[in-house]
Amino acid sequence: MLDPKAIRSQFPLLLREISGEPIVYLDSAATSQKPDAVLEAMMNVYRTSNANAHRGMHPLAEEATQQYEKARATVQKFLNAKYAEEIVFTKSCTEAINLVAHTVSQQDHIVLSLLEHHSNIIPWMQRDAHIHWTNLSDLEEILRTHTISLVAITGQSNVLGIRPPIEEIIQLSHAAGAKVLVDAAQLVAHHPIHVQKLDCDFLTFSSHKLYGPTGIGVLYAKRECLEEMSPMLGGGGMVYSIAEQSFTPLGIPEKFEAGTPPVADAIGLATAIDWLAHYDWKDIEEYEQHLLRHAEEVLTTIPGLTILNLQPHSAKAPRGDLQPQSGCISFTLAAVHPHDLTEILGRQGICLRAGHHCAQPIHKHLGIAASTRLSVGIYNTIEEINLLPSAIEHAQHVLATT
Ligand code: ALA
Repeated sequence: MLDPKAIRSQFPLLLREISGEPIVYLDSAATSQKPDAVLEAMMNVYRTSNANAHRGMHPLAEEATQQYEKARATVQKFLNAKYAEEIVFTKSCTEAINLVAHTVSQQDHIVLSLLEHHSNIIPWMQRDAHIHWTNLSDLEEILRTHTISLVAITGQSNVLGIRPPIEEIIQLSHAAGAKVLVDAAQLVAHHPIHVQKLDCDFLTFSSHKLYGPTGIGVLYAKRECLEEMSPMLGGGGMVYSIAEQSFTPLGIPEKFEAGTPPVADAIGLATAIDWLAHYDWKDIEEYEQHLLRHAEEVLTTIPGLTILNLQPHSAKAPRGDLQPQSGCISFTLAAVHPHDLTEILGRQGICLRAGHHCAQPIHKHLGIAASTRLSVGIYNTIEEINLLPSAIEHAQHVLATT
């Protein structure tokens, strides 16, 4: 069993107050808070061993290179990748997807699901690739009737919290000759990932949703996929030799990591992974499910509140008919705009996200423009969830009387 109090005590930000109220941070799907271990590790880099990696012979530079490569090995182990060089550090999950999208062209047919975040939509559109939208039930048909290069799919929706059956999608796609990219931005802090068992060709995530720092993301790709890909960014650290009119890049992963590497961020990410490893995935999943199922129970007592799900679009339906949600749940409140609601909740120290959450297609599919989302991390508590009904009712009252 997780001990949320012991976990919380490691997150200094959670001690903050807003307008005299203790902070209730329910926005971890946007970014998670960071434990002391990560903050200290990053501070330590800058205080004791800061230097550029892969660029110097002096002891500090060698230490920086070693620590940066050790961080890569930590990510490799975390994702259960076969080789460390299959891990490319990027600045974000978005950049990792852009790096893969950079290799497609107008001739490519790409399948996207209605659940995708804009970061897994726009990069493909920018390449003028032909996009096929799937509601998942028609995926087999799309794969049968078109020559698809790649299926790019979220591992967990950042709006509905539902998880597409990625193992099955990968098998179907491979059988049809298509590669698969899994956007694991939302999945990574809530479920273990085994890229070799999944057999996905690409998988992306960002550190900041995994209790690590902002400014660093990860592209995992099978070695043969990375070897075929050309670099997106040019610069120092990615080149083997330069001739008058051309250059020869280094091998993988260096050819994708132009410029000074994010050494302290990589160490922060590796520390977050090591920190999370103190907890059992089974306990993490059970505890977060407990929080979310409880949130559903208390939210559905609020008149006019509807929890979003794929089918049927009603919080009143029996659970068996709904897709299980992980990490977050989103809802609408009759006659209240999500921006107004979250602004008033914010004044009470309660942090939720409002809007389309950079996922307009799924909102359009559900016939709404925006929603309110609550998302959890392992530091949240049942007591925090219990504050929601009265806070939301207070907000309804404020809005009705102004
Ligand atoms: N992608 C993040 C979210 O869903 C920022 O909030």
